[in-house]
Amino acid sequence: MSSLERLPRQRPAHPPGEPVVQLHGLSKNYGAQQVLAALDFTLHKGEFVALVGPSGTGKTTLLRIIAGLERASHGQAQIAAQSAVVFQDPRLILAQRVWKNVVLQAWRQPDARQRAERALAEVGLGSKADAWPASLSGGEAQRVGIARALYREPDLLLLDEPFSALDAFTRRKVQDLVVDLWQQHRPGVLLVTHDIEEAVLLADRVLVLGAGEVRADIPVALPRTRDTTSREFNVIKRQVLEHLGRAQ
Ligand SMILES: Nc1ncnc2c1ncn2[C@@H]1O[C@H](COP(=O)(O)OP(=O)(O)OP(=O)(O)O)[C@@H](O)[C@H]1O
Ligand SMILES: [Mg+2]
Repeated sequence: MSSLERLPRQRPAHPPGEPVVQLHGLSKNYGAQQVLAALDFTLHKGEFVALVGPSGTGKTTLLRIIAGLERASHGQAQIAAQSAVVFQDPRLILAQRVWKNVVLQAWRQPDARQRAERALAEVGLGSKADAWPASLSGGEAQRVGIARALYREPDLLLLDEPFSALDAFTRRKVQDLVVDLWQQHRPGVLLVTHDIEEAVLLADRVLVLGAGEVRADIPVALPRTRDTTSREFNVIKRQVLEHLGRAQ
């Protein structure tokens, strides 16, 4: 299958919506270690941004601060009220059936089951509502994690290396699924990844983080569907790699 065939269909371009993340002078220290240094960054609803950077440079810390799971040391962060996070490991509760893993604490709400089924159907798991997590494949488990995020109808979707534990084929399918869902629901997306090709394939902008600072903010002005073998694609990929090399 060529890279063109596997990419999602082109949709009309949407103008960016309101800001869903606004960071001003955001810093984070752990004791004497400064992890993030005076970051300024804005992400709009409908925008897809990839965040790359060497290991230990503060990507997960930044995502956790944006998700409200961690406090910044200094600076301001204005974040959309409705956000959802998907981690590398979907962190399913083994003692709960799939649909309860989607709704979490909201399972007593009268429409919870129905909404969970709808979210599961969107990720291609309509028949798995009553399955136990242990019976799922890695790709299915990660799709439950995505359904859990969808259930919250987020304006902001935060993804921390969500595809990295998947085999190459499943990874492509789940990448395509995320792009399709993004194009349907238009949240702002912030995707942390170590895979430069994935960043250029999926995002409108690639941010390169180095030592807690934004070292580059590279637009990917390529129409979707993107051809990973095209000259333009590889020019941008090289640009990202060069900045990443300097960020080490
Ligand atoms: N709770 C914590 N307490 C102390 N130090 C921490 C804590 N969380 C993260 N750190 C440190 O902050 C730095 C950045 O960590 P972070 O997990 O954000 O990096 P990362 O860019 O996501 O790396 P990777 O690509 O390996 O996932 C690391 O040096 C890490 O050890
Ligand atoms: Mg990380």
